[in-house]
Amino acid sequence: MQFELITVGCACADVIARPVDQYPEPGHLQLLPELEIHLGGLAAVTATVFAQLGGKSALIGKLGADGFGDYIVGVLGHAGVDTAHVRREKSEHTSATIVLVTSQGERTFLHHLGTNGTTVPGEIDMALAKQAKAFHWGGPGVTPGLTGEGMGKVFQELREAGVMTSMDTCFDGSGTWFPLIEGALPHLDVVMSSLHEARYYTGKQEPRDIVRFFRSFGARSVMLKLGGDGMIVEDAEESHHLKAHKVNVVDTTGAGDASCAGFLYGLVNGWGLHRSGQLANAVGGLTVQHMGGAEAITSLEDTIAFMERGA
Ligand SMILES: Nc1ncnc2c1ncn2[C@@H]1O[C@H](COP(=O)(O)OP(=O)(O)OP(=O)(O)O)[C@@H](O)[C@H]1O
Ligand SMILES: [Mg+2]
Repeated sequence: MQFELITVGCACADVIARPVDQYPEPGHLQLLPELEIHLGGLAAVTATVFAQLGGKSALIGKLGADGFGDYIVGVLGHAGVDTAHVRREKSEHTSATIVLVTSQGERTFLHHLGTNGTTVPGEIDMALAKQAKAFHWGGPGVTPGLTGEGMGKVFQELREAGVMTSMDTCFDGSGTWFPLIEGALPHLDVVMSSLHEARYYTGKQEPRDIVRFFRSFGARSVMLKLGGDGMIVEDAEESHHLKAHKVNVVDTTGAGDASCAGFLYGLVNGWGLHRSGQLANAVGGLTVQHMGGAEAITSLEDTIAFMERGA
């Protein structure tokens, strides 16, 4: 089976509790008005939204043989993402995040790396990956086994086989930053990052300098995500600052991961840089109106209709 997109990297379950304005005393019980579970993780959300747009995607890697793993596989499968190449590890736990949200909307995260932390390049089925149109790594900051030279070799081999290679950054709690992506960068066709994270990874402040920095390693297209200010998309021929859609923002978590799916969907289908960026921006604008990153996109047609209404 040929996939248009294969993703590897962060896949997790986000358990969201709110409002939590104070913690109960140790040993006590506190009732919660809201407790929800959502699909999280850059690789999982990007694969899911790509499928919701009508593309053929697969997540590869591994999850624990536990309830969180069952939940993730269930959500992916429901969206049409292929999970046949996700291994279930009996001796490890699936990654999950507990998100505590105050009544003011401030979030505190308790994250367990789990299987995302132990996945290594040698576990990537290269024969399968070489048949894909695009191969995407989501989450260098939370997939320590995939950083460094090994991932560079994976991308190099895939690019030589004609696969479009791409990456989306995430926050690096260890403070390592650039060395995490250094091995992969020279072999990436598409680099996607939020401005906030990109400043740490590149050491540069200005969006224009950050985009040039990524392109100087050979990336054909760069998507720099600017939250409520939209995004910048740039390649050798064009550069566009796309304004964010004016919408009622409910939850921005995962909007970046979702918008990557929009950009990749456009590029894989031969859309130009501008229209691919517009689709990404529309996916982001729709996603922030819902909880979680993977629950807003209903179809390509609806997303295009929203996109064409303008920002
Ligand atoms: N407040 C907002 N209003 C409208 N659109 C938004 C808003 N915030 C984000 N978006 C859209 O979603 C896209 C991606 O969001 P953002 O810049 O937050 O990515 P990110 O930092 O990678 O997010 P995350 O990693 O939490 O998924 C933006 O480029 C924009 O198109
Ligand atoms: Mg992001």
